[in-house]
Amino acid sequence: MSDFYTGKISRRAFLRAGLTAAVGLSLGRFAGSAWAAPNLVGREAEADDRLRKFLLTAMEGEVELGAGETFRTWLYDGRLPGPEIRVREGERLRVELDNRLPEATTVHWHGIPLPNAQDGVPGLTQAPIAPGERFRYEFRAAPGGSYLYHSHMNLQLDRGLYGPLIIEERTPHVDYDREFSLLLDDHLPAAPRPLEELVGEADAQRGEMMGGMMGGRMGRMMGGFVVPPYAALLANGRLPSDPPVFEVRRRERVRLRLLNPSGATTYRIAVAGHRMTVVHADGQPVEPVQVDSLTISMGERYDVLIETDNPGVWPIDAAPVEGDTAPARAVLRYQGVRNRAAPQDALAEGLREGRQLQLADLRALDPLPAGEPDRTLDLTLSGRGETTWMIDGETWPEAAPLRVERGQRVRCRMLNRSMMIHPMHLHGHFFRVADAMKDTVLVPPHMGRVEFDFIADNPGRWLFHCHNIYHMEAGMAREFRYVQ
Ligand code: C2O
Ligand code: CU
Repeated sequence: MSDFYTGKISRRAFLRAGLTAAVGLSLGRFAGSAWAAPNLVGREAEADDRLRKFLLTAMEGEVELGAGETFRTWLYDGRLPGPEIRVREGERLRVELDNRLPEATTVHWHGIPLPNAQDGVPGLTQAPIAPGERFRYEFRAAPGGSYLYHSHMNLQLDRGLYGPLIIEERTPHVDYDREFSLLLDDHLPAAPRPLEELVGEADAQRGEMMGGMMGGRMGRMMGGFVVPPYAALLANGRLPSDPPVFEVRRRERVRLRLLNPSGATTYRIAVAGHRMTVVHADGQPVEPVQVDSLTISMGERYDVLIETDNPGVWPIDAAPVEGDTAPARAVLRYQGVRNRAAPQDALAEGLREGRQLQLADLRALDPLPAGEPDRTLDLTLSGRGETTWMIDGETWPEAAPLRVERGQRVRCRMLNRSMMIHPMHLHGHFFRVADAMKDTVLVPPHMGRVEFDFIADNPGRWLFHCHNIYHMEAGMAREFRYVQ
């Protein structure tokens, strides 16, 4: 893999983290497992599989981000993240989406190889759900793993329309005493707007002789590219100055489900005082591999185990790999340890040194066997100006569908001819990349190359796109299409 994976976190990010750490730990609250059960409306027995029903309401609302800050935005069930949906592998999941937003919406069940009509892509697999309307999604929850659900309409995801979807494995390949989910989010205080508008504003700012304020509500420049004006990075919807706390006991094995539904941020994450054993990538079991940090891009998930053998109060830090926003933070707190603040500069040391997870470290327990492809596609990832992003020279939605045949083994060879990270996500299938099975993979900038194989065994119209939603919105998507 490219040296991107061994890149360094900026010095300023460390300094800024020190500042938040000072107030952060002493104020920590038990917010880690604060998700109440979502609106469970009933259970029914079916022939074999149980049917589990949920009602999910997309609505405007206000949430607390901690440290006295509130935020009015669009949410599922009025919460940020949205409520945890948790089912057992093999159960049928039915979610009724009640759209009380002022705009049409859809929900996508990120990573699950479900029937195409349930995939939630507006204009491709369903009509948008109009304001005031309901739509029923139903599919078999399999395979087990950590997944996300989120709006797939325009840039709605970046308002806060996302949540965790956990499918408990029938037979986990590792055991553990307790678990927590940690969702990372880049917090945009204003309504998200497409790159085109952000660039227009950045140009206007430059015209004002650098006198204007950078940041604020306008687009910001980062490495020569305009990025949305994020105000902070959140862990489970909370600011780093008032982080969620995961309470543990000594001598436990704790499973942390790390999920990244951010609009445009890739993180490197580490737990102070502890190593992490990676046990799942995008929900799929891998041979356990011990690391000090890992990189998680938009749409990716990693499950890690932590052995609690080092009593104290420890930060879990997720620093952006681009830009210098202060890291998102959660806290691992041992019961019985007196609440104490961490030292000022106590950003988890694993971010600076130690072993970083590499893609090549991941070995799926049950991989698609190695083999020759029936079809090979070369898919260049590139940009034009700052506001157009392409796959193989074409922009969505004008791009022609990529037609494959049912049963084919399809190889996609991606080459990133741009200076930005692109986490590429395929709907409806897992793919083999290196020795891992994933549904989203980071393609490093500056001529980074990644290739994956998938089996065309789930007919329909499937979106393949960059999970930086601004890139997706600016054209970086294609459709794979095949019929029965
Ligand atoms: Cu999580 Cu097409 O997306
Ligand atoms: Cu991208």
